[in-house]
Amino acid sequence: MRYLDFVNLSYEPKETDVVCVFYVEPDGVSISEAAGGVAAESSIGTWTELTTIKPYVKELAAHVFSIDGNTVKIAYPIELFELGNMPNILSSISGNVFGLKTIKHLRLNDVYFPSELIRSFKGPKYGVEGVRNLLGVYDRPLVGTIIKPKLGLKTADHAQVAYEAWVGGCDIVKDDENLSSQKFNPFEDRVIKTLESRDKAQEETGERKVYMVNITAETEEMLRRADFVLNHGGEYVMVDILTCGFSALQSLREQDFNLVVHAHRAGHAAFTKNPRHGISMRVIAKISRIIGVDQLHVGTVVGKMFETREEVAENCKAIREEMKGLKPVLPVASGGLYPGLVPALIDFFGLDFVIQAGGGIHGHREGTVAGAKAMRQAVDATLRNIPLSKYAEAHRELKIALDMWGTGHQE
Ligand code: 3PG
Ligand code: 3PG
Ligand code: MG
Repeated sequence: MRYLDFVNLSYEPKETDVVCVFYVEPDGVSISEAAGGVAAESSIGTWTELTTIKPYVKELAAHVFSIDGNTVKIAYPIELFELGNMPNILSSISGNVFGLKTIKHLRLNDVYFPSELIRSFKGPKYGVEGVRNLLGVYDRPLVGTIIKPKLGLKTADHAQVAYEAWVGGCDIVKDDENLSSQKFNPFEDRVIKTLESRDKAQEETGERKVYMVNITAETEEMLRRADFVLNHGGEYVMVDILTCGFSALQSLREQDFNLVVHAHRAGHAAFTKNPRHGISMRVIAKISRIIGVDQLHVGTVVGKMFETREEVAENCKAIREEMKGLKPVLPVASGGLYPGLVPALIDFFGLDFVIQAGGGIHGHREGTVAGAKAMRQAVDATLRNIPLSKYAEAHRELKIALDMWGTGHQE
């Protein structure tokens, strides 16, 4: 079978096929030849005819069934894949094909998995509803902070900043993506002291508070850390899913710990930023949901990171829409947020999401408690349909935040 033999525009995908949508830019060959190359190399073909190919192997060929400009759709028979093995699936649909010489740029823009394949993974244990039940907050976005500075604080100071954020009104405190167990703030001591802060803040405020501790590490060590969190009364863990890898994420989910999994996507832009090459965030979001995360960073639209409104909407759709019975995942907006942006965020995300701010809370002129208060005030004002500037007249923390950072021209 030559590359062109993998193009079959009259093929109708079966319910059991995996369907991928690629952006393909050929280099010196026709779009059909390039698209056929992708289907061949990600299923049963190679650059030349084979003497070893049997008729039953031909049944497993992937089919290019649609070519529309540079958009190419390919259907893969489910038998090509090992169920419950995400690295295996990705080695086919997003493996060697990215390096073919006849392709200048290739982007995996979307993927649709059949239910048998989806059901071979655990999926989210908690999802949106589980997280809301845990916190007992149903009628507003959750408010979180990332302890800043992102690296360098000693454990006692980290736990103190966490305490202040919770007392000020944050529901969630999380570690930053690159904090793990450095000498200045070792993991175990941090878990113990920060959970003590959580307990104190819960008693004082009467609100449920959660700590999302970053367990990112080598897989075995990560599992050990998850166990440690559980044994010390934690309810949440955070994982950098791309630097740890999907296999490690799957190992964590397979343990079925009673822990909410917060997925941070540090490094995603290496795959997602170039619109003509790589893997879209929507694909990463779907895969993470299928393996089983409960919360996922999806971009902010209005913050410091690059994604467009359309992209963030697609990311949200991927984790919220009906997908063969999988629980919806809670979107997390993070990166460059501050109180003045809250109306625009709620307008875009609705109520089911997490607003996370680091600098936008710990950068408040009057400190972390005031920063957290300002954020909660911005949420309260928005839900009551009161313009922030008006609400700020009687809420000094919000007033200061608006004076410092404005509203991003969104109000
Ligand atoms: C993101 O992935 O949304 C940004 O990198 C910000 O993430 P963080 O605020 O949790 O670090
Ligand atoms: C990041 O790493 O970018 C963040 O954790 C978000 O922090 P910020 O709210 O200060 O941008
Ligand atoms: Mg961060």
